[in-house]
Amino acid sequence: MEFITVVFHLLLHTVGLCSGGSTSQYVRKAEPAIDIPLELFPQPSGYNAPEQVHITQGDLVGRGVIISWVTPVERHPNVVTYWEDGKQDEKHKTHSITTSYRYYNYSSGYIHHATIKKLNYDTLYFYELGKQNVTRRFSFTTPPKVGPDVPYTFGIMGDLGQTYASKQTLDHYVSNPKGQAVLMVGDLSYADHYPFHDNRRWDSWGRFIEKSAAYQPWIWTAGNHELDFAPEIEEYTPFKPYMHRYHVPYRASQSTSPLWYSIKRASAYIIVLSSYSAYGKYTPQYKWLKQELPKVNRAETPWLIVLVHSPWYNSNNYHFMEGESMRVMYEPWLVQNKVDLVLAGHVHSYERSERISNVQYNITDGLSTPIKDASAPVYITIGDGGNIEGMADSFIDPQPSYSAYREASFGHATLEIKNRTHAYYTWHRNQDSDVVAADSIWFYNRYWYPNEESS
Ligand SMILES: *[C@@H]1O[C@H](CO)[C@@H](O)[C@H](O)[C@H]1NC(C)=O
Ligand SMILES: *[C@@H]1O[C@H](CO)[C@@H](O)[C@H](O)[C@H]1NC(C)=O
Ligand SMILES: *[C@@H]1O[C@H](CO)[C@@H](O)[C@H](O)[C@H]1NC(C)=O
Ligand SMILES: *[C@@H]1O[C@H](CO)[C@@H](O)[C@H](O)[C@H]1NC(C)=O
Ligand SMILES: [Fe+2]
Repeated sequence: MEFITVVFHLLLHTVGLCSGGSTSQYVRKAEPAIDIPLELFPQPSGYNAPEQVHITQGDLVGRGVIISWVTPVERHPNVVTYWEDGKQDEKHKTHSITTSYRYYNYSSGYIHHATIKKLNYDTLYFYELGKQNVTRRFSFTTPPKVGPDVPYTFGIMGDLGQTYASKQTLDHYVSNPKGQAVLMVGDLSYADHYPFHDNRRWDSWGRFIEKSAAYQPWIWTAGNHELDFAPEIEEYTPFKPYMHRYHVPYRASQSTSPLWYSIKRASAYIIVLSSYSAYGKYTPQYKWLKQELPKVNRAETPWLIVLVHSPWYNSNNYHFMEGESMRVMYEPWLVQNKVDLVLAGHVHSYERSERISNVQYNITDGLSTPIKDASAPVYITIGDGGNIEGMADSFIDPQPSYSAYREASFGHATLEIKNRTHAYYTWHRNQDSDVVAADSIWFYNRYWYPNEESS
């Protein structure tokens, strides 16, 4: 009898999922989850100095950049001056679209968004904002032309906030010279943590991330902390501060909302979804995603990556299964289209899944367990930027078989795409030296090389 049980277990292990997942025993040094005081995010000096400078991709393919900034006192100057490295005598100017908003008793500064287009690929550009002695200069490098074997490295961060731990995470990312653009999986400033959603915390966050976001594009995803829906203070418009401050090139992918869109960058096709917008059948997001996925040409962009805030596979007690209804809606499409990676935040911990799917269940068949699936994405939860809400340190025990690695720590990751088949992924705790990789794996492309990976 005992022998039979052993054989049965062996069989389970070979046919089914191997329960090789590990829960890290790393013990993070305890520190309080408190925001850095507002005074420590000073405005740059000079009258009406441009601040909160950040850039994102401004078109479908990476030849466009949206440059955003705030002028606190006056609407003007509302222009960005830019030039290619080595061509100072060929300066160009683009005017911004300027907006501002009120939130309860807060009034924003002038928020500028200037879209510059038709830049050369893989080229260093400088840009200047402001005037005379309050001019500020920044730079960025455009991505290489879209193509199947173009190496490119993305940084990945989520749920960042503006605590001392957030600063560790961001400083680590900035000192990691590899990252060329950031995939931000939502929950930015956590201004909504404060009474009346004190929107000065949106300003301080803009100043906080400038050291990275002014120099390389951050690709934005909306999280629940972007909602700022507060009927108790008559703030009824979801995403009001976020949508005024963070513009994205959604029209370039025929989206009708900045909350879901896609871009191509180097060898990656990135699809951004909104956990907090309607996604059921017949909704705008559903219709858009349905027609978007077949457009992806893996011979042009081999790496298909989806960003969404609320995770679809996660084994933490915090926010458990909040992403489930969206998973049920969209997971079959992602598996059919061999998505490589799904990156999510929301849970303030780190977790990486096996390649698994759970698409058979139809309420009558009882097939509700995830199974190993070579066509399925790996799901990464990286809501571990280090915000004011603290750590999600309570994992479901025992570790479910779909979970490959999990750890209650803060940090960031990088994804180094090498060519159409190989990408090297590393996750870095923010209390280690920034070169230490606590989790690393070679990802194999699902379209070109769907072999099994091992970490
Ligand atoms: C800029 O110049 C003005 C006068 O031209 C001066 O009042 C101001 O202090 C200067 N600001 C800075 C930051 O140097
Ligand atoms: C907004 O209202 C809060 C609460 O009444 C108050 O503490 C704060 O000073 C006000 N801010 C402004 C800019 O009026
Ligand atoms: C549900 O799945 C079972 C088992 O695969 C299948 O026999 C049945 O037809 C399915 N029901 C529907 C409504 O698709
Ligand atoms: C793709 O990159 C991997 C990792 O650097 C390398 O081992 C492999 O040979 C490359 N493939 C081709 C076709 O160059
Ligand atoms: Fe969240």
